[in-house]
Amino acid sequence: MRFHAILLLLPPSLAFQLPFSIPFFRPKSYSTLEDDIQPSPPSSRIAIIGAGAGGSSAAFWISKAKERFGLEVEIDVYERASYIGGRSTVVYPYSNSSLPPLELGASIFVPANKNLWRAAEEFNLTREDNVDDDVGIWDGDKLLVSFGGGWWDTAKVLWRYGFLSPRRTSSLVRNMVSRYLTLYTLKSPRWNNMSDLAVHLGWEDLVETSTSSYLVKQGVSASYVNELVEASTRVNYGQNVDDIHALGGTVSMAAEGAIHIKGGNYQLFEQFLNHSGANVYLNTSVASILPKSATSQNWVVRSDRGSTLYKAVILAAPFHTTHIALPPAVSEQILQVPYVHLHVTLLTTTSPSANPTYFNLSAGSKVPAMMLTTNFGARNGGKKPEFNSLSYHGLVREGEWAVKIFSKERISDGWLQQMFDGQVGWVHRKEWDAYPRLPPTGSFPPIKLEHGFYYVNAFEPFISTMETETVASRNVVDLLLNEEFSSGICGITSPTPGEELFSGTLQVGVGEDPVFGWDC
Ligand SMILES: *[C@@H]1O[C@H](CO)[C@@H](O)[C@H](O)[C@H]1NC(C)=O
Ligand SMILES: *[C@@H]1O[C@H](CO)[C@@H](O)[C@H](O)[C@H]1NC(C)=O
Ligand SMILES: *[C@@H]1O[C@H](CO)[C@@H](O)[C@H](O)[C@H]1NC(C)=O
Ligand SMILES: *[C@@H]1O[C@H](CO)[C@@H](O)[C@H](O)[C@H]1NC(C)=O
Ligand SMILES: *[C@@H]1O[C@H](CO)[C@@H](O)[C@H](O)[C@H]1NC(C)=O
Ligand SMILES: *[C@@H]1O[C@H](CO)[C@@H](O)[C@H](O)[C@H]1NC(C)=O
Repeated sequence: MRFHAILLLLPPSLAFQLPFSIPFFRPKSYSTLEDDIQPSPPSSRIAIIGAGAGGSSAAFWISKAKERFGLEVEIDVYERASYIGGRSTVVYPYSNSSLPPLELGASIFVPANKNLWRAAEEFNLTREDNVDDDVGIWDGDKLLVSFGGGWWDTAKVLWRYGFLSPRRTSSLVRNMVSRYLTLYTLKSPRWNNMSDLAVHLGWEDLVETSTSSYLVKQGVSASYVNELVEASTRVNYGQNVDDIHALGGTVSMAAEGAIHIKGGNYQLFEQFLNHSGANVYLNTSVASILPKSATSQNWVVRSDRGSTLYKAVILAAPFHTTHIALPPAVSEQILQVPYVHLHVTLLTTTSPSANPTYFNLSAGSKVPAMMLTTNFGARNGGKKPEFNSLSYHGLVREGEWAVKIFSKERISDGWLQQMFDGQVGWVHRKEWDAYPRLPPTGSFPPIKLEHGFYYVNAFEPFISTMETETVASRNVVDLLLNEEFSSGICGITSPTPGEELFSGTLQVGVGEDPVFGWDC
């Protein structure tokens, strides 16, 4: 499916609906470098903590309101790392930037991810298709099955699992995607909390049930769930079908048409910031975010740069990994969300495939380029797979391939030597709190933490992807602009959650329609 950004579809009446001008003052000329709180009220300053998908897109959405309505705000983005992109970043084999970079974190998005898709288009970034490699499913003991590229619809899938299970699953995925797409229509609601959104998307059941019970109840066979679906939940979220909620499970299965940005997805986030005109402070840790005084509605952000006063603050990082001090009344309401601690091992090898003997295949047989795993054997007393996924990612240069391994434990050098026949070149290890654990749940962290203080990553225990961070930030920015500036990304057009959501057709096309926030 090709996407066309047809701005002409935007009804002119919407574009010019709200000719607003609000008397905000430009900040006179105070510097954020001062060590003390500025004396003048920061009537038009917003802080964003985090320069990943959520924070960079938040800055971009605010800049849209500036552009459309003349909103005069200054945006400061704080990022403790030395780069933009958060959990989306690349490394170069041998640290040689002439070689093709490898994604260390979030690596794909899909056509239904309309913000990223549109951003790539508007920022002139090149999208590349992901290659459909051979896929195998390993259970720690034996290779259960392997498929050719494009495995989801091969004859072999039908042969092994029958017709109904793949069809029922893909119909569930399609329904989920088409509801999800309503979040991009011009009438998309704002939501005050995640439970509200779950209710209005009709997804309470999906988030409150594990993937395995949900799918089995829907008539999907246990073998399909335990093999194909679990292979997907493990490669995408490092979690098994009995642990992860069914929304996470369906999102994991919705990887058809996956693409990435040539040279690295982080460029999307760099461009969001670049186009936002925000001040970006890299290498800058935030120590605390506290109210100016008991009665003040302003916030003091204390960082390596000193203290600065803000009218509003957007927290766009998983709170419990930031170590930022907040007023106890605020931090206590932020539900602790555990993250999956993932080991990523990137390497290059001159061995054209993984070691067949490891997988109990005869010497010389070809091991699938993408080896996924299931924990099903282990649930029945068998061996646990030693990794979540192990996949070849093309050549870095003639005769040398890049390989990516995700695992729960550190992968040792000895193990690599054995797996790649002693032909290991460069190795890069990274540990991340990569994504939240997604157990079935009905409770989520709050989106609005306090007056003028919002939390983007409240969305993550619901769906954790690059794209949904940009959807979450859009909602947060809209709520914040409504509350603090009597404005909005598209003006003050705030439908009550649920009211407008399904008033249109559920069959929203992937490419043809105007996208909320971009086209208003
Ligand atoms: C951030 O720190 C890194 C490593 O200490 C340094 O290489 C880089 O230049 C710094 N970047 C900025 C923008 O200060
Ligand atoms: C980086 O890779 C390029 C392309 O393979 C190669 O020509 C160059 O010598 C490498 N640079 C270093 C410092 O190894
Ligand atoms: C994108 O590329 C087109 C054609 O190559 C050019 O006209 C346009 O100005 C570019 N836009 C940006 C944002 O760089
Ligand atoms: C390994 O392969 C051999 C020969 O194909 C077979 O007899 C044996 O059962 C296999 N072992 C496992 C654990 O599957
Ligand atoms: C979510 O917000 C709605 C109002 O939009 C409110 O009625 C409901 O109680 C809230 N739920 C939670 C869990 O905070
Ligand atoms: C945007 O990026 C260009 C180069 O890619 C750079 O010259 C420019 O300063 C950036 N603008 C902002 C606002 O960061």
